[in-house]
Amino acid sequence: MTIEERLIAGVQEAVKALYGLEATAQQVQLQKTRDEFEGHLTVVVFPFVKAARKSPEMVGEEIGKYLVEHVSDVVARYNVVKGFLNLVISDAPWIALLGKVNADEKFGFVPVTEKSPLVMIEYSSPNTNKPLHLGHVRNNLLGSALARIVEANGNRVVKTNIVNDRGIHICKSMLAWLKWGNGETPESSGKKGDHLIGDYYVAFDKHYRAECDTLAAQYVAEGMDAEAAKEKAKQEAPLIKEAHEMLVKWEQGDPEVRALWKKMNEWVYAGFDETYKMMGVSFDKIYYESDTYLEGKEKVMEGLEKGLFYRREDGSVWADLTAEGLDEKLLLRNDGTSVYMTQDIGTAKLRFQDFPIDKMIYVVGNEQNYHFQVLSILLDKLGFKWGKDLVHFSYGMVELPNGKMKSREGTVVDADDLMDAMIADAYEASKERVKQTEMPEEEAREVARKVGLGALKYFILKVDARKNMLFNPEESIDFNGNTGPFIQYTYARIASILRKAKEQGIEIPEQPSSDISISTKETELIQKLNQFGAAVRQAGTDYSPSGICNYCYELTKEFNQFYHDFTILGEQDEALKQFRLSLAKAVAKVVSLGMGLLGIEMPERM
Ligand code: ARG
Repeated sequence: MTIEERLIAGVQEAVKALYGLEATAQQVQLQKTRDEFEGHLTVVVFPFVKAARKSPEMVGEEIGKYLVEHVSDVVARYNVVKGFLNLVISDAPWIALLGKVNADEKFGFVPVTEKSPLVMIEYSSPNTNKPLHLGHVRNNLLGSALARIVEANGNRVVKTNIVNDRGIHICKSMLAWLKWGNGETPESSGKKGDHLIGDYYVAFDKHYRAECDTLAAQYVAEGMDAEAAKEKAKQEAPLIKEAHEMLVKWEQGDPEVRALWKKMNEWVYAGFDETYKMMGVSFDKIYYESDTYLEGKEKVMEGLEKGLFYRREDGSVWADLTAEGLDEKLLLRNDGTSVYMTQDIGTAKLRFQDFPIDKMIYVVGNEQNYHFQVLSILLDKLGFKWGKDLVHFSYGMVELPNGKMKSREGTVVDADDLMDAMIADAYEASKERVKQTEMPEEEAREVARKVGLGALKYFILKVDARKNMLFNPEESIDFNGNTGPFIQYTYARIASILRKAKEQGIEIPEQPSSDISISTKETELIQKLNQFGAAVRQAGTDYSPSGICNYCYELTKEFNQFYHDFTILGEQDEALKQFRLSLAKAVAKVVSLGMGLLGIEMPERM
């Protein structure tokens, strides 16, 4: 039985013996004692006051006295503040609890079995016409952290990605490459494939805009008003017409266009793979829009036959969602081509064929809130059992402070550039320390990678996902404060203590002897360790990686306070020294489990 269970049973017994009251376990409310009072756990006595016909203070006194007498191995002393009975737990149960934390490799995680619910989490979902940017970084970090958290809560998780590999955007890059590329390849240019394609997308845009300007000026000269001229130029510019022709050829399966499309997409995927690898994210199953959009059409036609959707006179197909308080939604254009929503219906169909999905989570920016509201209703109508309760994990924008790291195009921040810069900054910042510790160059580089990326990941994940945010590289890498490197540094410090203990031949017991007397700081640290499971549960129900950040930060702070006040290796009492080493080791383990959920690696030295 845990300490909490012992106390709850004790209180049940007490009110039975004292007041003849049969209380359920739920009626016994246990809370962590507030900082300003002495104690670890607090019993709320109000639920028993009526049966006792005594003042809350009196009831608290009586239950407290009973517990000290009857659960004496757990309850050392008590005090009563109003209707709250604050309990001080004796040392032995805490030390036993530390042993439990140590014994469990995956402390705080719920094991996954073949019968566990299957949760599919979609994240990343890039388009293949340009490299990943800062927005994708937030998406990938949130999605992969969420996947680990959901798994740690006892679910089977399938990480998925839907790649938007077809459409006008990729035709633009293809066309620009044909026109101005001179056969350039990633090899010949030394560029990553996704960057290469991104550059042609930008080139298309540049030439297209020039065409638009010339055309619009011509229309104005012919007497058209400026706004109308601009709109018409956008439609009539030869480049965009050519891109559209290319898309039609693609749809028709034109071998040349398809071959070029395939080649250029391969370049992009090779580039994405490098970025994903550096970021530490991966997928179990990747879907491609080129495969799913046709499935979507089929599904929509099925819905049309069943009368779920309707056809307009011009031949287009629509869903009428006015009864649901939404509007009418286009599903197939009058030329039979599909729209974004159709693709998502098709993807859902394939996913459901491939996996027995119990829950579907889409990690997509909040600019698509309406899209997912509609998708949920449509999937439900079409008979997907998880459609109604699909989760759109919606997150806000992320930006850099002005002037920091403008990318090639001068607008978005490139994911590769950002990660490189973070690692370079971490390396710079570590130079002095590295000299002192005589760390080999190779290790210093590896540590800089962990710290630079840790700074980036932690800073982004600690913010409530729904909020817009500013990523501040300098602040993120600061060793003091609520940052990844602060937590990593504490971990490395513990690792160093444990190494020294080993050098001195000290065995660190999994279960330290309870023949010692420990301080409040120490019991509180064990109590904090013990709360890790609850933090993981909470993060799982709230879908909140930031909750894990918070927990790791608090645990780290508490350890640092302890380390500031007490010596570990310098302790003269052998048993106490072993206990503290064991405690430090448990903190290191739990902190690395927590940070591991966030995808942050811990350096053994820093
Ligand atoms: N590729 C899309 C975009 O860039 C995001 C796809 C999100 N996922 C989805 N199932 N619709 O906007």
